[in-house]
Amino acid sequence: MKSKIKFGTAVNVSGLQDPKYKEVLSKEFNIITPENEMKYGSLCYTKDNYDFTKADEIVAFAQANKMAIRGHALVWHNQLPKWLTEGNYNRQELISILQNHIKTVVEHYKGKVSAWDVVNEAIEDDGSLRDTFWLRGIGEKYIDLAFRYAHEADPDVKLFYNDYGGEGIHTKSNAIYDLIKKLLKNKTPIHGIGLQMHLSLDGRPLKPEHLAENIKRYEELGLDVHITEMDVRIKEPTEEKLVQQANIYRDIMNVALGSNCKAFVMWGFTDKYSWIPKWFKDYGSACIFDEKYKPKPAYYALKECLK
Ligand code: XIL
Repeated sequence: MKSKIKFGTAVNVSGLQDPKYKEVLSKEFNIITPENEMKYGSLCYTKDNYDFTKADEIVAFAQANKMAIRGHALVWHNQLPKWLTEGNYNRQELISILQNHIKTVVEHYKGKVSAWDVVNEAIEDDGSLRDTFWLRGIGEKYIDLAFRYAHEADPDVKLFYNDYGGEGIHTKSNAIYDLIKKLLKNKTPIHGIGLQMHLSLDGRPLKPEHLAENIKRYEELGLDVHITEMDVRIKEPTEEKLVQQANIYRDIMNVALGSNCKAFVMWGFTDKYSWIPKWFKDYGSACIFDEKYKPKPAYYALKECLK
């Protein structure tokens, strides 16, 4: 499936040991995001000791298969190394740690990664700033600083703010939008917005027209929009539910194709390595291929859209 919009998936590094995983990955997609390997805790488990081995493995695979790479994620509140969260650093020290981390990682992948999720999930569902390690240690300024440090390290890479549950038009997405506008007004180097798109068959439905309206307002700000982590989780899957799931994937893809959205990335393509069962009790079957790499109705629905 190749088309004007980049079509992609998160890559789980264990999958690269699995020939079938690699075969489907290279055949179907032209953009990837390392699922975990570029996170702070993965790259720098021990203080002052960056280990890029696993992330580099994914990057090498992507390059060998001519795929674009989204870097993920420079600043997040999860999967941080213990030496950092338990280190009792003061504000000034944390600012230098943040700067050093961003510089080290962005410079390492300069020219290889085409977009970075610089700040991930900084807003709460109620629209307030999320109370995180970075907010407590540095204050709201951490967001602006992160983008500036990333831009200094690689002036050519596109810098994104990425979040979940901000896809439609509601309190959280309005708060994200206001944050982005404020950053732009402040001349923070930000170039794009990532809409994660972790959906559920029985959750609050996302109206396609609300997604379209949300994408449009970012385009009007001059920002790129990427769908960055789509999946649609299901409880007790049936044939009928898989068809409903396909309809959701199709609706979102059609909105993306009807806009200037430049990438449609899913959070995994096979249920074999999906994060969903571990994170959402009783849910699964969220990807477009099942555990045996059999394409589901959602796969055929997307294929039809991309024709
Ligand atoms: C998830 C991974 O898929 C899991 O393997 C890991 O245990 C936790 O993180 N939003 C994000 C992603 O931005 O980085 C998260 O990835 C899923 C939610």
